[in-house]
Amino acid sequence: MAIQKICCLGAGYVGGPTCSVIALKCPEIRVTVVDMSKERIAQWNSDKLPIYEPGLDDVVKACRGKNLFFSTDYTTAILEADLIFISVNTPTKTFGNGKGRAADLKYVEGAARMIAEISKSNKIVVEKSTVPVRAAESILNILSANNKPGVSYQILSNPEFLAEGTAIQDLLHPDRVLIGGEESAEGHAAIEALCSIYEHWIPRKNILTTNTWSSELSKLAANAMLAQRISSINSLSAVCESTGADVSEVARAIGLDSRIGSNCFQKDILNLVYICECLNLPEVAAYWQQVIDMNEYQKTRFTAKVIQALFNTVSGKQIALLGFAFKKNTGDTRESPAIHVAKTLLDEGATLHIYDPKVEESQIFEDLTHPSICESPEYVNKSVKIYHDAYAATAGTHAIVLCTEWDEFVTLDYNKIYSGMMKPAYIFDGRKILNHTSLLEIGFHVQTIGKRLNRPIANRCWSSNVKLV
Ligand code: NAI
Repeated sequence: MAIQKICCLGAGYVGGPTCSVIALKCPEIRVTVVDMSKERIAQWNSDKLPIYEPGLDDVVKACRGKNLFFSTDYTTAILEADLIFISVNTPTKTFGNGKGRAADLKYVEGAARMIAEISKSNKIVVEKSTVPVRAAESILNILSANNKPGVSYQILSNPEFLAEGTAIQDLLHPDRVLIGGEESAEGHAAIEALCSIYEHWIPRKNILTTNTWSSELSKLAANAMLAQRISSINSLSAVCESTGADVSEVARAIGLDSRIGSNCFQKDILNLVYICECLNLPEVAAYWQQVIDMNEYQKTRFTAKVIQALFNTVSGKQIALLGFAFKKNTGDTRESPAIHVAKTLLDEGATLHIYDPKVEESQIFEDLTHPSICESPEYVNKSVKIYHDAYAATAGTHAIVLCTEWDEFVTLDYNKIYSGMMKPAYIFDGRKILNHTSLLEIGFHVQTIGKRLNRPIANRCWSSNVKLV
């Protein structure tokens, strides 16, 4: 069956870029991306897209209004589509059973109910959201319980492996595309139909087909293994700081990736831990829980280091936070370490000057006034100021805490920044991207992750009761 019309439910970081690339590569297919949020759809139809991704603007401009449409009219889009992607959000549950760990599938369920209610013809429904194993079964249950005569469904699992910040490149040149489906003639036909879309630009050998459950589990497993590698290197970074080894060198020597922030959402490993517990596999759950704990330890260790270096008190101090996104080249702040750093510093009484090239001011306030972060929004309003460039953000501050590895932070004029700061001036490089030697030469006190830095002897103006590591 050749797919002529695609509908995508969810115009977020996954749905928007994925469908834009499909529209670009499949000019004969009409792709409609729908969302419940009118505001988000209006942004997709404007000059300022709701998400920042390098290369995305060009792809959208090339297809929008031709074979790519953003709409809130989900009824028409579902009715007309041969194939429907479910790309809705699957956050961690914030209440009830599995609170703080299990994936909240209410949006996936909502999407399935919409499809069941509206459809009048056969549909291939593709689960693109990251979901627990056997979620496809729940979707099928909803669809078949509301079945109408002459309408049949095939559910496929097609997890997304793109990383924010490089989404367009990842979508254009994926290492692999994974498609899981039912092991039946109809299942295979549906898999083939989805394969034929990707085959417009991806070699067949890079398209892996499996059964549904293997595909669902592979996404969680891939995230968990990536997180495990990051946690391993994070654990070694603590050893490096105590011994004089350099974590970047160790990582290179053992062929590991030293990224501290990555595209691996903690929510997906939490979900894996929860699934293992539900399956009565406590040892497996404990194994993956330790990966999460190590990630938390790394964040706590970093903020503890900042406070300790600033004479164990940041109360009343001005601290510049450079970067708020969870990684460079995105405006997404979900699970960003900057939120944890900001919370701790605010709890300790600091005043924060925040600058991020792509995160909107309203988003920063939304994140910091979330009930889990700060009980008093007034306190955040009073203690946080947002700036539109790094020089203004750092002027008059006691310390800089670098939270996101934006390229522009590497090439700032640190002599100029140093001269505008309170002395002694501190820099905490949470992403290990700056030239520490030259910062030390300028006169900064510098600390980073996974490496002990010694100030040049001549510059040590602080007496022995202050420990400079
Ligand atoms: P997002 O939050 O950016 O977008 C989801 C969108 O779905 C929202 O705009 C929401 O309004 C919309 N929505 C919810 N219910 C709807 C419905 N019934 N009909 C239409 N729209 C609806 O989320 P994002 O980041 O795009 O993630 C989507 C899924 O993809 C999640 O399961 C996530 O875990 C997964 N994923 C995300 C990656 C990422 O880097 N962001 C990478 C790989 C997978």
